Amino acid sequence: MDYKFTKEDLQEIENLKSRYPEIKPVTLPALWIAQRRFGHVEPEVQKLVADTLGLPEAHVHGVASFYTQYYKEKKGKYVLDVCTCLSCQLCGGYDILHYLEEKLGIKKGETTKDGVFTLNEVECLGACGYAPMLQITNDTYVNHLTKEKVDTLIESLKEDKVPEYEKIEMPLRKNN
Ligand code: FES
Repeated sequence: MDYKFTKEDLQEIENLKSRYPEIKPVTLPALWIAQRRFGHVEPEVQKLVADTLGLPEAHVHGVASFYTQYYKEKKGKYVLDVCTCLSCQLCGGYDILHYLEEKLGIKKGETTKDGVFTLNEVECLGACGYAPMLQITNDTYVNHLTKEKVDTLIESLKEDKVPEYEKIEMPLRKNN
């Protein structure tokens, strides 16, 4: 596939460049812009970012591969990151993960056939006081999970309704 940034994306990247004394730190937000645009940062997208910033592909690949939040392959429309670290585990994180596996008919790390959901098991997301919890596609946190809450969440997402009340504003991740 021939990946291209839009004029608006390029302008946003230009604006970012002016905020830093050198170009390398722009790699992180530029990858976010790319992921927001294409849904992932596969190697070809990493190349686009490298070419746009005038940096070596190896540098962009190094950054993209370091952070799990950058998707190096295509994912479902909604990526459900279920925390099973200590607090969440003690509060039933694995029950929630296994319930989602059963409900969606996939194992952790897999994507549903219709491409709507990817399910992951992740480390602490810094919301231990709200355990058990999950995060939707690097953005919204859904806290104090129960099986009933998972049922409601999945139904909402199938209708493209993301719960707003626990949404964390991440300006770079907003759609234009
Ligand atoms: Fe789950 Fe910290 S242990 S958010």
